Amino acid sequence: MMDWRNDRMRVKALMEAKESAGEVFVQGWLRTVRRSKGVTFLALNDGSCMSSLQIVVGDNSPAFAAAEDLGTGSCIGVRGEMVASPGEGQAWEVQAAEIVVYGATDESFPMQKKRHSFEFLRSIAHLRPRTNAFGAVFRVRSRIAHAVHSFFQERGFVYVHTPIITANDCEGAGEMFRVTTLDPDNPPMIDGRVAWHEDFFGSKTGLTVSGQLQGELFATAFSDIYTFGPTFRAENSNTSRHASEFWMIEPEVAFADLAVNCQLAEDFFRYMVEYALENCQEDLAFFNQFVDKGLIDKLEHVIKTPFQTMTYTDAIQRLQNSGQKFEFPVEWGCDLQSEHERYLTEKVVGGPLFVTDYPAGIKAFYMRRNDDGKTVAAMDLLVPKVGEIIGGSQREERLDVLQHKMREFDILPESLDWYLDTRRWGSCPHAGFGLGFERFLMYITGMENVRDVIPFPRTPGSARF
Ligand code: 4AD
Ligand code: MG
Repeated sequence: MMDWRNDRMRVKALMEAKESAGEVFVQGWLRTVRRSKGVTFLALNDGSCMSSLQIVVGDNSPAFAAAEDLGTGSCIGVRGEMVASPGEGQAWEVQAAEIVVYGATDESFPMQKKRHSFEFLRSIAHLRPRTNAFGAVFRVRSRIAHAVHSFFQERGFVYVHTPIITANDCEGAGEMFRVTTLDPDNPPMIDGRVAWHEDFFGSKTGLTVSGQLQGELFATAFSDIYTFGPTFRAENSNTSRHASEFWMIEPEVAFADLAVNCQLAEDFFRYMVEYALENCQEDLAFFNQFVDKGLIDKLEHVIKTPFQTMTYTDAIQRLQNSGQKFEFPVEWGCDLQSEHERYLTEKVVGGPLFVTDYPAGIKAFYMRRNDDGKTVAAMDLLVPKVGEIIGGSQREERLDVLQHKMREFDILPESLDWYLDTRRWGSCPHAGFGLGFERFLMYITGMENVRDVIPFPRTPGSARF
């Protein structure tokens, strides 16, 4: 890739060059400084790739004095000759003729050359992008975000920006963060209750838990749409898989049933894994070596193997007959816990697994009722280690069935009159799903904590940075 500025060469371009570019100018941050007799070696990284560029400063170089006080973490620009490197593991190095110091540093810089734990690096999230591991994570994140758009745009889907502020709790789980301008110490009251109609939007509003309902509206006009945006859940679960703010991709497809929905999810999943294998090789090799041995084998295997499918009812039977002791008891009608999901995907199947047709009572109101009257056309995609990575369903397109369902779930029809209108006029069978972007990144990098694949994690009790 060409640099967007022609007066600087990116380290990535330099590393990949077939022949020397002669005199080059590079800029970046020092990962290490190594001094030996008569020569100083600097490892310069500009974030364009995992590798750092070796800068050699000999004592006969006019830059030697400038290199004297440089330490790990300082920011510099270097002009010099690009020459074949005699060192192991790199094709090129730069012999410095001139060094500009933009930002010096000192020994208190917290990331000296040694391995730091991910927990420690989380506490310095403002600096951790300058490590190898987080450089890799956030480069992969950027590439995969691009892959999301390529996949859907190549297939003619329309990208919809659904609202972040909303009055509707799509999932009905009561996990919305409030958005208000009322004075918390002195809100307007009527009959002992807060008068929400006096609030900024004239009603009780919050941050969205899903763009699905609005996505469905657009699917009834554009046929195939997707959303990709931030999503918020005020769920007090402090696990390695839950963030209070995360990104979700939600396609919604008209004229689709559950089988088509699963096919789309599988194609999408596989496309992104393939994209990562092709476009993020250096970073994946790092994860494979230092974070999750066997990662690349797993990814290469998954793109070749069709995903398995099992109904919820079968899954319950498999769990009950497993002879395994679970913390949460298993019976038909219970929600699958993470331990159950992981058993199914890791022990029973050993790969991605769609579980379908869940009991109506444990899933959201909008899912389509199956003919058995007990289950709904839902699907979750479970994967080893991460567990649930996708949740989706065919939607209830029959007005009377949907209205009945809303009454059962105590949802006021007035609150969703616009949603019901799509069932009143030109209703169509449709389906969709949501992929948790961070969970997917965990899968593809082998990173084990959602906090380590999002730049600045928001979790219960923590919104620093
Ligand atoms: O299963 P969920 O709640 O489904 C929905 O929100 C539907 N409206 C999607 C749809 O059909 N359009 O969430 C979808 C996915 C989960 O499978 C998970 O990957 C991710 O979003 N997710 C979270 N990721 C990180 N932190 C959290 N707290 C998450 N909650 C859900
Ligand atoms: Mg779910």
